[in-house]
Amino acid sequence: MSDLQPVGVVGAGWVGLVTAACFAELGHTVVARDIVQEKVDALDRGELTFHEPGLADLLSQNRERLTFTTDIADVLETAKLLFVCVDTPPTYSGDADLSRVRSVVDDLRSDGDHVLVMKSTVPAGTGETIRRDLPGLAYVSCPEFLKEGTAIKDFMNPERVVVGADAEHGEAGDLVEELYRPLGGEMVRTDVASAEMIKLASNAFLATKISFINEIANVCEEVGADVGEVALGMGLDSRIGPAFLKAGIGFGGSCFPKDVNALKMLAGNTGYHFQLLNAVIEVNELQKRRVVGKLQKHLGSLVGKRIALLGLAFKPDTDDMREASSLVLSARLQGEGAEVVAFDPVAAKGAEGLLGSVTMADSALGALDGADAVVLVTEWAEFSDLDWTEAASQMARPLLIDGRNFLDPETLHAAGFTYEGIGKSVSSSAPVA
Ligand code: UDX
Repeated sequence: MSDLQPVGVVGAGWVGLVTAACFAELGHTVVARDIVQEKVDALDRGELTFHEPGLADLLSQNRERLTFTTDIADVLETAKLLFVCVDTPPTYSGDADLSRVRSVVDDLRSDGDHVLVMKSTVPAGTGETIRRDLPGLAYVSCPEFLKEGTAIKDFMNPERVVVGADAEHGEAGDLVEELYRPLGGEMVRTDVASAEMIKLASNAFLATKISFINEIANVCEEVGADVGEVALGMGLDSRIGPAFLKAGIGFGGSCFPKDVNALKMLAGNTGYHFQLLNAVIEVNELQKRRVVGKLQKHLGSLVGKRIALLGLAFKPDTDDMREASSLVLSARLQGEGAEVVAFDPVAAKGAEGLLGSVTMADSALGALDGADAVVLVTEWAEFSDLDWTEAASQMARPLLIDGRNFLDPETLHAAGFTYEGIGKSVSSSAPVA
């Protein structure tokens, strides 16, 4: 065993496994516990149950420092610091479901020696409630900011590390700070409630930026401006910044939709009406549906039209379908009577069963065969390398709606496509028949 502090991880999902792999890479002994036996068995065989670039390799390179178990006692015996990385999905009320967090806390009831480090995204006030129930427990809030698809890079190169501990647990906070120090990044030491709010506010603000630029895009379409140019010009102002100003067909994933709603509900539960977040959510919902209008503008009724979706995952480099725009879009298209065919290089398997009677194609070109239009839903890198001239020749009508403003309009135009992005003027080689 190394001299470094052993680390316990509870919950072997995206955040938990990345945390486990990265701390093992830094030389720590790590015990990761998950309640799902099949997941633990798969990890023991070196298999991942989801797609995250580089993660399987990092786990295998550090195999000798990693133990996977279903037994919480293995974690408690080995590590003082327990990183809680269980999921907190939305409930029917829109509040975060804390049942998995609570069951971990129940496991610690009789224990006074451990530090609970909360990485799961929880409503502000959760730390205080847990400490009221378990006064002896040292509690640190250390929210995670990693993004799917670049999770390892994000974990290993944090811009900031937030460590929230109240005065009586300052030493526990120091232990967590020590663990993260080799990674660099600004260290933000704060109280627990503020750390919890930093996470929720960060996600809500990023989501607000996206909905804002999507509304700007919609206005750009009305006035003949190009949202890409507008975002560039705005983003050069350091007070605004260029990130998260990519207009498209809305944000999805396991965090933004859930956390924006959870913050709205959290505020509402205290009697405060967080008006801005209502608009962020509504803009995002409508943005996914605008694509249907764009298709109808070109094709008229969609009844019997064959529409191809390129990409299904909520963003590239992940197989995560949670709150993916493709779910709403494919349902709306089927609702309008269209025949929908889709291709995603990684998410297709997980998407089956979520998309109604959508036909899955084996390749991008296969999806486009005979299609009346194609919608680029997820900006997988391989789509930019597609032979678009060949694609145009295979389609019934060469019409492309670029839901992520990802492809080069000139290339598409030269290939014979009518191209329409989000917040841009339509470029057309010839009228769609
Ligand atoms: C997000 C946060 O970025 C991360 O800090 C937090 O820990 C978890 O939630 P993630 O959900 O992995 O990460 O994806 P992210 O890259 O942030 O994208 C979220 C969604 O917003 C995607 O659907 C993406 O397509 C969309 N998006 C992002 C835009 O539409 N425009 C942008 O400019 C950026």
